[in-house]
Amino acid sequence: MPSIAAARASNAKYSPSYVPVAIFVGGTSGIGRAIAQAFARYTQGNAHIILCGRNEAAASSIIASFPRPTAPEAKHEFVQCDATLMKNVAATTSALLNRLPKVNFVVLSSGVFSLKGRNETSEGIDRKLALSYYARWKFTSDLMSLLREAKDAGEDAKVMSILGPGNGGNIDLDDLGLKKNYGVLRTALTTPAYNDLMFEAFAERDPSISFVHVYPGAVRTPMLGTLMKIAFYPLTISPEDCAEHMLYALFNVEGGAHRRDNRGDDMGKKRYYGSEEARRRLWDHTVEEITRSATT
Ligand SMILES: *[C@@H]1O[C@H](CO)[C@@H](O)[C@H](O)[C@H]1NC(C)=O
Repeated sequence: MPSIAAARASNAKYSPSYVPVAIFVGGTSGIGRAIAQAFARYTQGNAHIILCGRNEAAASSIIASFPRPTAPEAKHEFVQCDATLMKNVAATTSALLNRLPKVNFVVLSSGVFSLKGRNETSEGIDRKLALSYYARWKFTSDLMSLLREAKDAGEDAKVMSILGPGNGGNIDLDDLGLKKNYGVLRTALTTPAYNDLMFEAFAERDPSISFVHVYPGAVRTPMLGTLMKIAFYPLTISPEDCAEHMLYALFNVEGGAHRRDNRGDDMGKKRYYGSEEARRRLWDHTVEEITRSATT
């Protein structure tokens, strides 16, 4: 279990010979914001960093906190996208595909905290599932050709999803998308299992690219209410410390699907709820849902 100091020391060794391109979906707040800032710091600002989210004002102040780059290819920018709609994700990724030569890192941390029931978008997908699963799947799928460009050039090509390996539960294969039987607890158990299966399926198709599903632990983010933050202060960590562990996980995987815990350690198949059948059926369901959402 790497300590925070060990994680920082390891991250400080990251010094690519090229200017990396990194996209942070959900990078305007919470853990995504803290990882983007740590990444900017470790690259001395010499990276093409794209913050993707809804809040432009938040993005501007985050970008202002990054070190000023010296490399001409470096760039720090905000791309607006409300990822609850798959149409929006499609518009965002097609614009990126048109102008980026490659992508080295995709960090997915979009999410929403809600204890309410199913809340569908105009595309018929529940908002929480959209942010913690479908949009993450679509960003990964759409950007795969740019990740391959990076890999073919001998560079890093990695996707990280921040959610909850080990915190999932059995999934109902006859109710994929939770349209019949939705519940807050059921959603909380289902989305981590979906994320495991999603990355296994992508890794099967592109084994040289790295896919890391990582558990952030209890982090003092805006999503955690103020009272909870005070009550559980000793048990929680700051987004900044969390970001070090998440970057450690990102920098220390090479190819294939991985599950990492809140210290960035390999979890293997601990509390894993997948199967070959689940992986195949979830993939088919997801392709169907996303194809259908494009026509609504
Ligand atoms: C559903 O989500 C929308 C958009 O976030 C929100 O305005 C609305 O209040 C939500 N409805 C319910 C019933 O939670």
